[in-house]
Amino acid sequence: MNQFSGKFITFEGGEGSGKSTQIKMLLNAMHEAGMEAIRTREPGGSEGAEEIRNLILLGDKNKWDGETEALLFFAARRDHLVRTIWPALKAGVWVVSDRYVDCTRVYQGYGREGDKEGIETLYRFIAGDFESDLTFVLDIPSEVGLGRVMARTQDNWTPDSINRFEKQELEFHKRVREGYLDLARKNPHRFAVIDASKDIESVQAEICKVLRERLGAPLT
Ligand SMILES: Nc1ncnc2c1ncn2[C@@H]1O[C@H](COP(=O)(O)OP(=O)(O)OP(=O)(O)O)[C@@H](O)[C@H]1O
Ligand SMILES: [Mg+2]
Repeated sequence: MNQFSGKFITFEGGEGSGKSTQIKMLLNAMHEAGMEAIRTREPGGSEGAEEIRNLILLGDKNKWDGETEALLFFAARRDHLVRTIWPALKAGVWVVSDRYVDCTRVYQGYGREGDKEGIETLYRFIAGDFESDLTFVLDIPSEVGLGRVMARTQDNWTPDSINRFEKQELEFHKRVREGYLDLARKNPHRFAVIDASKDIESVQAEICKVLRERLGAPLT
């Protein structure tokens, strides 16, 4: 558990696993239950971090090498922590983030098969021993998630829709999925793996159940 009175919940999982959909519903449920909660996202979540987000996500998929990209993520993350996450947690607010450091661990460490220890060192430099109180991994076969993204893109296309990561090959996405499951196996107290191939309501019900049982959230 972190040292603050608010709780820090993060959502992880591959493209199209339903993170944004579930977080939106969860925030509604939390507010209805009278909980003080905010929703944020990475990369981004503060003014400076949103600027760095655009550097990371837009453009050619080989624009940055792995190390440069990792440093950009950690620069954005530090700003997000200092300006958004820590102040809210200190004030007793629950913070729900659409991705956090586990996505760097997994995309860089497993997807790109990069330096896992180097990533931990960078994380300790910006965050000390701070971690999420609970991280949901929305687990889904990569093909299904990518299929959802394609369907969403056709309905509602924006230039940000097809970002660099969605252009990566399927093998990369499979390594990402395995990476999340590996982290969850190694850190069972911090992680909850949810079967995200079920319908939207069932996934939401499972998330609320885990939050009630593990963090005492007053959700129905
Ligand atoms: N359980 C579900 N069953 C079927 N479709 C779903 C489910 N959850 C979400 N979707 C749909 O799949 C698409 C992707 O969902 P969403 O945007 O929430 O995923 P995401 O994990 O946030 O994706 P990204 O990684 O691209 O941000 C959306 O069109 C959404 O409506
Ligand atoms: Mg999303």
